[in-house]
Order: sequence, then C-alpha cells, then structure tokens
Amino acid sequence: MLRLVADEKRKGRVYGMDLQKDALESTWSLLDRSITPDERELVELYALCHTKMEEIIPHGVAVRLVAFNLGYLPGGDKKIKTESETTLLALEAAKKILAPGGLISIVVYVGHSGGREEFEAVQSFACGLPFEKWVCCKLQMLNRPLAPVLVLLTKKRV
Ligand SMILES: C[S@@+](CC[C@H](N)C(=O)[O-])C[C@H]1O[C@@H](n2cnc3c(N)ncnc32)[C@H](O)[C@@H]1O
Repeated sequence: MLRLVADEKRKGRVYGMDLQKDALESTWSLLDRSITPDERELVELYALCHTKMEEIIPHGVAVRLVAFNLGYLPGGDKKIKTESETTLLALEAAKKILAPGGLISIVVYVGHSGGREEFEAVQSFACGLPFEKWVCCKLQMLNRPLAPVLVLLTKKRV
C-alpha cells in the first residue's frame, strides 16, 4: 500500500488502526525491514478503534482506499476481535471519508465465533448502498465455505 501512494509528490499517506499494540508493533517491525526511513514518514499507525478513523484522517483529504482486515489477531487473544456493531460504525465512517472513485475492501472471516454474523452485517450494509452511487460485490470460495470472504465497495464518480 505504501509503495502505491509513495510517489515523488510525497503527499500520499497510509494510516493504520488496530486496537492492539502487538498488531501495530509487528506491522512496524515488518515495515522497518522493508521500507526506507523516508517512506516510514508516510505511515501513521494508531492504537484505536476503527470507528475513530475520521479523527485521525486530516479533514478534506481524498481517501482512495479503506482496507478492513476483520477478525482476531492470528496467534493473539481470540476474544479481541472485531464486532458487528463497531464494524458497521467504521463502515459508515469509511463511506463518508472515501473519495469518489475510491474503494472500501473488507476481508471478513466467517470461521470463528461471531464471524458469520459479522459477515451478514457487512453484507447487509453493502446491499443497502444505492447502486447509482456504489458498485458492491463479494468474492467467496464455493468449495471452502469457511474461507474468508472479500467484499469490495467502490464509490462511483458521479
Ligand atoms: C485479522 S487481524 C488483522 C491484524 C492487522 N491489523 C493486519 O491487518 O494485519 C484483526 C485485528 O482487528 C483488531 N481489532 C479488533 N477490534 C477492533 C476495532 N474495533 N478497531 C480496530 N481494530 C480492531 C484486532 O486487534 C486484530 O489485530
């Protein structure tokens, strides 16, 4: 993602949010091994609920992608996971800040407790978006019913 926004104008940014510091630390550690100090300045990570995304993205910025990776942290406490109620609030926030032509991508895990309900909530959010303004689709494996589902919501340039 960083490489996609880190052009010569240096205006692009990647903002990341996770409730758990462990998740942010492993992201920083991966970044430290793979990006330059200059590129590192274009990344901001916050230990915050994703419902708060409007508080960290500067007002008026054209957001081109909001990528959700729902569920729990692999290897971590499975009880700390995204929940339908806050995920829906975060999707409402993403919908507001996304620029025309932008994309919301959501990876939803259906195999853990509460995962199927969260998927249903995401799906009904997507089904409720007006087709004149949004293109909404999902990518789901037919022969692996517990595989994660990818939901893609594109805001049309109208
Ligand atoms: C599948 S893991 C993704 C880990 C990491 N953020 C990534 O994308 O590689 C799901 C993450 O969602 C985080 N999470 C759970 N509830 C959250 C919330 N309300 N806001 C932000 N992150 C949340 C968990 O802490 C967990 O690390």
